Amino acid sequence: MDSLYSLIDKLEETSHLTKEEWVFLISNRNGELAEYLFQKARHWQHHYYGNQIYARGLIEFTNYCKNDCYYCGIRRSNQNADRYRLSKEDILECCQIGHGLGFRTFVLQGGEDGWFTQEKLESLVESIRKGYPDCAITLSIGERTKESYQRLFQAGADRYLLRHETADSSHYRRLHPPELSSENRKQCLRHLKEIGFQTGTGFMVGSPGQTAAHLAEDMLFIRELEPHMVGIGPFVPHHDTPFAQEAQGAVELTLFMIGLLRLMLPKLLLPATTALGTIDPLGREKGVQAGANVVMPNLSPTSVRKKYELYDNKICTGDEAAECRMCLSRRMQSIGYELAVDRGDFCMAAP
Ligand code: 5AD
Ligand code: FES
Repeated sequence: MDSLYSLIDKLEETSHLTKEEWVFLISNRNGELAEYLFQKARHWQHHYYGNQIYARGLIEFTNYCKNDCYYCGIRRSNQNADRYRLSKEDILECCQIGHGLGFRTFVLQGGEDGWFTQEKLESLVESIRKGYPDCAITLSIGERTKESYQRLFQAGADRYLLRHETADSSHYRRLHPPELSSENRKQCLRHLKEIGFQTGTGFMVGSPGQTAAHLAEDMLFIRELEPHMVGIGPFVPHHDTPFAQEAQGAVELTLFMIGLLRLMLPKLLLPATTALGTIDPLGREKGVQAGANVVMPNLSPTSVRKKYELYDNKICTGDEAAECRMCLSRRMQSIGYELAVDRGDFCMAAP
């Protein structure tokens, strides 16, 4: 086996490692190696995106969910979750506020909530498309049929986020009830790409039972899918879930995985996630310094923010949209980057 440093060089040159090489690299990482990786990651981040960090306005529009994922605070079995849905008017108001603050991407995220029928969702997307023709509309509303995705695309949605959570099917079963499968998740992602969505996937780092071999499979899956965006964040326990007593994911491993992703697919849109900012006060800054180039400040009305509690101690639940935007601008400036408010499409430039 090549040395750790030459594996990083190989990844940079060929964007390809074998499963054994991934496992070796991930399980033998150390601080010095991570610095070597992050330097290269920042090189490619600057090459494609300069010092611009794209901001996407996140609107958490429903916390009802028919699924029962063991890690998630809004799972249907959590009787203590205080459920809410935003009306179409509420959502359009979030967009209006966001647009005024300069946001040109809206991410509509919610649980898998049947109250929002296909018709309601299409009409919502159409209204946003009509009101904000210069904005990208991103949906993050879970697993649906290809036909449903197709119609949402036709209604005007441009992007879709659906994390695969873990690419290993037995690990997937450890995290989800039997009615959900890794195969179906992956199928949904392929459908989204085929339809023409800018597609985002991702996984949790340090979820219960996760090994370096699972992370290796995540990297192989992502290499094969070639998504436009990959969102990764540490697993953070939620007190009202079966995983309440499990340990949280490590900041250090999350950063290392961000660096590896930047090197494997150098044009990726890579968010420094809220979960990372939750377990480390400088988590998002460190994420950017490891190769991330997207942040997703919250545009949800403050009245509902605390209720969209996927995990404990989630940050930004008390802050107005404008405060989050200012806060992130300041944070990015403090490390030599600039918050960019334009659409921030996947970089199409030739290598
Ligand atoms: N810790 C960290 N991330 C979580 N998510 C859900 N629950 C948790 C948790 N307890 C992530 C999942 C999901 C995304 C919206 O939030 O990866 O896809
Ligand atoms: Fe929301 Fe800092 S980003 S308060």
